[in-house]
Amino acid sequence: MQRIFSGVQPTGNLHLGNYLGAIRNWVRLQNQYECIFCMVDQHAITVWQDPKDLIRNTREVAAGMIAAGIDPEKNVLFNQSTVPAHAQLAWIFNCVARMGWLNRMTQFKEKAGKHKENASVGLFAYPNLMSADILVYKATHVPVGEDQKQHLELARDTAQKFNNDYGVDFFPLPEPLIFGAATRVMSLRDGAKKMSKSDESDYSRINMTDDADTIALKVRKAKTDLFPMPDSLEGLDERPEASNLLGIYAALSDRDKAEVMAQFAGRQFSEFKAELVDLAVSVLGPINTEMKRLMDDTTHIDAILKKGAERANAIAQPIIRDVYDIVGFLRP
Ligand code: TYM
Repeated sequence: MQRIFSGVQPTGNLHLGNYLGAIRNWVRLQNQYECIFCMVDQHAITVWQDPKDLIRNTREVAAGMIAAGIDPEKNVLFNQSTVPAHAQLAWIFNCVARMGWLNRMTQFKEKAGKHKENASVGLFAYPNLMSADILVYKATHVPVGEDQKQHLELARDTAQKFNNDYGVDFFPLPEPLIFGAATRVMSLRDGAKKMSKSDESDYSRINMTDDADTIALKVRKAKTDLFPMPDSLEGLDERPEASNLLGIYAALSDRDKAEVMAQFAGRQFSEFKAELVDLAVSVLGPINTEMKRLMDDTTHIDAILKKGAERANAIAQPIIRDVYDIVGFLRP
């Protein structure tokens, strides 16, 4: 059986990176796999979240996914904290995964920065919860952006070590699914930095909640270099901003990056940007409108998430029960 699990942190606005790197791919995969999609609120609190914002963001991310085309009837859509088996399995994985493995995680280093001693224990152990999210459903495939690749390797190592330690063939080794023209969308202000919710500058990202005028302004202000649009893939690495904008255009128009480059080769950035604005607004506008409509009726979103939680619990509970038996937890 092939089963997908993937998640998004409800820590702020969904942005174009989340959409192009992940959610849009999920919309396509939902017809090929059994899919479970999760608002990972327990991951979110590894850094401080205002409780009211966390609730709002959890609903907003759910609204974003549905507006983008995830069918909540066909797929399981829920928030992590409603399924206790994630945290239960995460504890066991805390005892399976090694300190050395977690010490190598680049995301922890980036997020904790110079204040490692002051980071939460949760932020350090985060990848184990992520492995648990996936494996508590025995998911076989995990569609994500490029930045999650290392965490997925850890999930595979953890599954393998659990199977070896206990002499079982219990967990599958989940495969990452990383595809599309924009697996790593970069900041609009700095082509060397990933587009992210936590960047201080709102001009660094396009949010799924941005209206047409805001999108236009952000694209117009996006950093470029002094040369015309590139005409060859060669040397594109030295022009990260140009490469990023081309990748965004290609992903939004469902075309190949090389093809888009050929179309705009040698032209001025201003012309290209005008077309990129039209394209971005035509793709994101309807999603934005639908998101707003959904957010006007939070009872409807909550009902969807409640049903999703029931379905997710129904899958996860028997699996965690088996894990408890394997580990030797007495069930008196
Ligand atoms: P998160 O919330 O940071 O991002 C959600 C998804 O969006 C992708 N993404 C990007 N893709 C391309 N370019 C970008 N700039 C960009 N920024 C984000 C991410 O790769 C991700 O697919 N740890 C995960 C959430 C998680 C998870 C899981 C994912 C928790 N448990 C289990 C998969 C399976 C995270 O922080 O994603």
